Amino acid sequence: MTATTVTITGAGGQIGYALLFRIAAGDMLGPDHPVRLRLLEIPQGLKPAEGAALELQDGAFPLLRDVEVTDDAAVGFDGCNIALLVGSRPRGPGMERADLLAANAGIFGPQGAAIQKHAAADVRVVAVGNPANTNALIARTSAPDLPDDRFTALTRLDHNRAVGQLAAILDVSPGAIRDVAIWGNHSATQFPDVAHATVDGTPALDALAARLGGAEQAAAWVDDEFVPRVARRGAEIIEVRGSSSVASAANATIDHVRDWMLGRSDGWTSAAVVSHGEYGVPSGLISSFPVASDGSGYRIVEGLDVDARARARIDASVAELVAERDAVAAAGLLGS
Ligand code: NAD
Ligand code: LMR
Repeated sequence: MTATTVTITGAGGQIGYALLFRIAAGDMLGPDHPVRLRLLEIPQGLKPAEGAALELQDGAFPLLRDVEVTDDAAVGFDGCNIALLVGSRPRGPGMERADLLAANAGIFGPQGAAIQKHAAADVRVVAVGNPANTNALIARTSAPDLPDDRFTALTRLDHNRAVGQLAAILDVSPGAIRDVAIWGNHSATQFPDVAHATVDGTPALDALAARLGGAEQAAAWVDDEFVPRVARRGAEIIEVRGSSSVASAANATIDHVRDWMLGRSDGWTSAAVVSHGEYGVPSGLISSFPVASDGSGYRIVEGLDVDARARARIDASVAELVAERDAVAAAGLLGS
């Protein structure tokens, strides 16, 4: 089998370190799939990336064909099939994701252009670095010759968090839960939606009502605990750990790419993809939706009922995405 070239930006950072060994072990593309790793850093990040490359060699991973460390985007994205855009500054305690807009937006335009110029024709891109949706949009607009469906941003961590919270309250395995959806931005405005979710085939809202003593209590738990807990989980992790999520973010990145490349058979998942107007989300925005995958690409799950409450929450998160897009456009950071 031909090796797949995976480029990881920010590979010398925390998430990079948590990603590299799992990719080399076959967790992302499967146990028979050889990989070539390109570790793209800025000059200050080269030493940790070089150290990680030495450790990758010491791991003697049978699937790992080759590792290259560079601070040159032309080299880093050369022949790249999968680009994991992680490199950017994380937020610290007390910061909102919007605070990162100015700090990180300048990274993703040049990287989008370099991907268009140097990557393989089948390249697929996921922005992990925050603000992830808008960074993905900047990369996407800087690579106008590539199709929309190659550009995504990570909201799988939010999706997994939502599944984890439901599994905990219902005392079931996360594997019993299907069809949770994250809508909108990877930020505190996101809408984690359980309206269509099931637990071992039972509607999640019925299972919650049985567990919590009635439909009213279930609705109150969803509105007052579940939604804010999932939406603010990134901040909670920062408060408790003292720095932003790492292993769960790397795990979600691997889940996102694996389902995108290999397909998934057990219901939908969530990913931020380019809107073509689905569910009233303005065309061109990179917003989170429920998505299905047969391995050829993420496809938005259409035709779901969205009630007035959900509509208002989705609209609020999309309004934030519009404001982020307008801010980077005004700063001249958006491509054509
Ligand atoms: P980190 O500071 O440990 O690592 C970031 C790395 O990026 C550093 O090594 C830095 O040298 C490198 N870097 C900076 N600019 C670069 C550039 N132009 N090209 C290549 N590399 C560059 O941070 P981290 O904890 O690994 O987090 C990385 C990003 O991921 C942050 O923006 C964080 O907020 C984000 N994040 C996103 C999610 C999500 O679910 N979408 C989850 C967790 C963290
Ligand atoms: C997360 O959701 O954990 C990350 O996006 C980090 C953050 O700033 O919240």
